[in-house]
Amino acid sequence: MAIRINEILNIDSCLILSNNNTIPRLGLGTWRSEPGKVQSIVKEAILNCGYRHIDCAWLYRNENEVGNGIHEALEESQGKIKREDLFITTKLWNQHHVPEDVEWAIHESLKKLRLDYIDLYLMHWPVAFKKMDENQWSQTEDKTVRYYAEGITLADTWKAMEKLVDQQLVRSIGVSNFQPTEIDEILQTARIRPAVNQIELHPYLNQHVLREYCAKQNIIITSYCPLANLKRPNEREEDASALYNPVIQEIAKLKNRTTAQVIIRWHIQHGLTVIPKTVTSERLYENCQVFDFELSDKEMNQIDQLEKSSHRRFVNPPFLRPGNRNVFDD
Ligand SMILES: NC(=O)c1ccc[n+]([C@@H]2O[C@H](COP(=O)([O-])OP(=O)(O)OC[C@H]3O[C@@H](n4cnc5c(N)ncnc54)[C@H](OP(=O)(O)O)[C@@H]3O)[C@@H](O)[C@H]2O)c1
Repeated sequence: MAIRINEILNIDSCLILSNNNTIPRLGLGTWRSEPGKVQSIVKEAILNCGYRHIDCAWLYRNENEVGNGIHEALEESQGKIKREDLFITTKLWNQHHVPEDVEWAIHESLKKLRLDYIDLYLMHWPVAFKKMDENQWSQTEDKTVRYYAEGITLADTWKAMEKLVDQQLVRSIGVSNFQPTEIDEILQTARIRPAVNQIELHPYLNQHVLREYCAKQNIIITSYCPLANLKRPNEREEDASALYNPVIQEIAKLKNRTTAQVIIRWHIQHGLTVIPKTVTSERLYENCQVFDFELSDKEMNQIDQLEKSSHRRFVNPPFLRPGNRNVFDD
């Protein structure tokens, strides 16, 4: 899946999904993009920087503002940018897995995003919660068991998502945070194969095995937390974030690039789609200047090796998969 060096890439570069739809390699993430900032950054991304791919979720509670940003960008482009030029992803939250709730949830996201279709709809996690107050699961010690909805299989929810494609409310469907076991479960009865698996992937968690599995299944991966730029409480940013990694800093210095640009380029050269989040204008521009330089095989390999000494998974909520298993194997 890795790209050939010298392949000509630009911000419009896309990968082809298994249903022949295309997905831009680079997108803008919106998790924790605060209301008050996200609308203008989405507009700027689309209107001034050339971003065509925006990653959203019902859970991020900012689809309204993202929708306004999209709408303003399209309007101010005076017809130069059209809805069909954009690729908008959003996600089905865990408490909406019951088939009739799936339909409710897509209409809710469409309304907030001010769109009449979504390009890619992802099942956010392979876990079904009971209906509850929006914040309840994150406020309790006992998140995992008490709030688990029984009797709703992943296949049931997937079938409901397939119907959304039939109704032309979504163009492609996929999953997020899925391991091979859960993808295999869906594939047993799926009429439409998952086009994408969106997972945490960065130099400290390169997901080599899952990447191979998805490549065999013709499932495109989108890397989330691509910069490995989160930290745990009491940790210094310099110790936690890959942006401060000395190997990446050295490569960045040689290339006259920033560490963020080197990391984003590493994702792209691995044939991944990547959605760095920022609400800062300068970083928005910085993060898309990644199509005019290349990492050598040696540099790619140096970054590939970092996980061995610095394995990190930043997003690991205490959810249980069917069978009372932790959501991740590691
Ligand atoms: N499917 C899932 O379960 C899941 C989970 C997590 C994330 N996601 C998606 O993936 C997207 C990206 O992941 P993420 O937001 O967790 O992490 P990320 O994109 O790796 O990092 C974002 C952080 O890095 C900062 N940043 C961005 N560009 C920078 C640059 N050039 N130099 C220095 N700092 C920079 C941002 O700050 P500022 O914003 O302040 O500039 C923000 O604090 C999310 O926004 C979301 O759309 C999906």
